[in-house]
Amino acid sequence: MSSPIVFLNGRFILESEALIPVTDRGFLFADGVYEVIRFYKGKLFEPEKHVQRLARSLSELELPLDSVEKLVSVSESLISQNAFDRADGIVYAQITRGAAPRKHAFPVDAAPTFFVQTTEMLRPLQKLSDGVSLLLMEDIRWQRCDIKSISLLPNILASQKAAERNAYEAILHREGWVTEGSRSNIFAKIGGIWRTHPADHFILNGVTRMVVLEQMAKLGFSVQEYAFSVDDLLQASEVFVCSTTSEVMPVIEIAPLQKIWKPGSDTRKLQEFFHSAIG
Ligand SMILES: Cc1ncc(COP(=O)(O)O)c(C=O)c1O
Repeated sequence: MSSPIVFLNGRFILESEALIPVTDRGFLFADGVYEVIRFYKGKLFEPEKHVQRLARSLSELELPLDSVEKLVSVSESLISQNAFDRADGIVYAQITRGAAPRKHAFPVDAAPTFFVQTTEMLRPLQKLSDGVSLLLMEDIRWQRCDIKSISLLPNILASQKAAERNAYEAILHREGWVTEGSRSNIFAKIGGIWRTHPADHFILNGVTRMVVLEQMAKLGFSVQEYAFSVDDLLQASEVFVCSTTSEVMPVIEIAPLQKIWKPGSDTRKLQEFFHSAIG
């Protein structure tokens, strides 16, 4: 198979020819941010929300914003150049502080590295129908989880532990308060009210989370952006995780909690919205 086309620092080139210096601060320090945007049948899903979040992540790290304006046009061009016009997939975009001699403080004159690639990815239809099992574990991350940083080691370790136990996702808690997943947000319906952790510095404000909240308001669901505890989960009548790649994913089990759920009617209504929005 021929190498896909990617975008690196202003040029569309073959992935096999895309190279960055070993002194790139993304490689040395994980000094950078990223975005993942869904596309369905070649069309970007909620691009503006991703652009806004990228701008926020960049400014929190004092990185230049030049890439923000280009993200949508570069993504659309890659979808077309890689013949994904009718495909479902994801755009991955990463910006780092660029190459510079290794020193912790920001370099004065480094040019940021801007990389974008597109990958075909099917919707997880079987799992969306059946629901998934999760694994609960402690949230050991830093306190700026609101920045979509490429520094993902705690998320990777949590995700790996979940994969080893055949769980779809790791669900994280801080001192008993459920924050989010290693790569998703979580909602639980407790006492008839949908709850999810507020969008503060302990979670990433997922684009899917924002879309779900908008949709819940339209559907007239009771919802509070208010943290819930691990014990509260035992009272939940419906639970789902959501993300760009998982959409609205019903949860049927959270090990080691002794409880089994079925995909509920509210969850199904939210999924219907996604099916119709995707077309
Ligand atoms: C830690 C974390 N929380 C939440 C999300 C969900 O965000 P989104 O809906 O924008 O994909 C992600 C996605 O990668 C994530 O890594």
